[in-house]
Amino acid sequence: MAKLIIANWKLNPATAGEAKALAKASDVDGLVVCPPFPFLEEVKDKLTHAALGAQDMFWEESGAYTGEVSGAQLYGLGVTHVILGHSERRQNLGETDEMVAKKIAVAIEIGLTPILCVGETKEEHDAGQAVEVVKREIQIGLSKVKNDLSEVTVAYEPIWAIGTGIPDNPDNTVTMVQLIQEAAGAKVPVLYGGSVKPGNAEAFLSRAEIGGALVGGASLRGEDITQIVAIAKKYR
Ligand code: PGA
Repeated sequence: MAKLIIANWKLNPATAGEAKALAKASDVDGLVVCPPFPFLEEVKDKLTHAALGAQDMFWEESGAYTGEVSGAQLYGLGVTHVILGHSERRQNLGETDEMVAKKIAVAIEIGLTPILCVGETKEEHDAGQAVEVVKREIQIGLSKVKNDLSEVTVAYEPIWAIGTGIPDNPDNTVTMVQLIQEAAGAKVPVLYGGSVKPGNAEAFLSRAEIGGALVGGASLRGEDITQIVAIAKKYR
């Protein structure tokens, strides 16, 4: 199966002009570009090869939910993928496994491909709790999916590896991929995320078990992200 690369821009860049320039520089097949909500439409206009993704969505379709954005609204803008349960949302905004589970189920119903993010903190890692934590995130996160899991993608993102410049060891990632598929009860594609750069991408993407990468920092440079996509293409 083709490897999938997700560009998670997070709260970047500052302006629509910069977002358009970055989209243009990142427009390659096999990439999903996830800009901040206000730039979705302008970024979409610049993409002819890459797909459009979002960084979150709410589980209700409409109503009194100030500040929220629905999956149907995203779908209407041409969004195909949505990152859900990112650790920055779990940590900064108190997103729980139960909230993430609702979002995952609704995304699938709407026709969006959810990217369920899971991963342990440094403390949990050091205490030998990574397996337990990730298992729980998978089991609850996928508990509301009604049909099979063919529309689900998971991203294993150890929190201590995100934005630190210290990626996971690919052997450990492969072990976690197997654990995730066991916990899910299906061979869902599992991406790796956490300090992926052009220089270390091959160590992850060359592994058959790893389905692609979720890239934060390096996705803010067109040159870096297109290089990562080119590496992924060698291992289709
Ligand atoms: P990073 O972010 O590549 O900057 O470590 C990954 C992520 O949070 O998805």
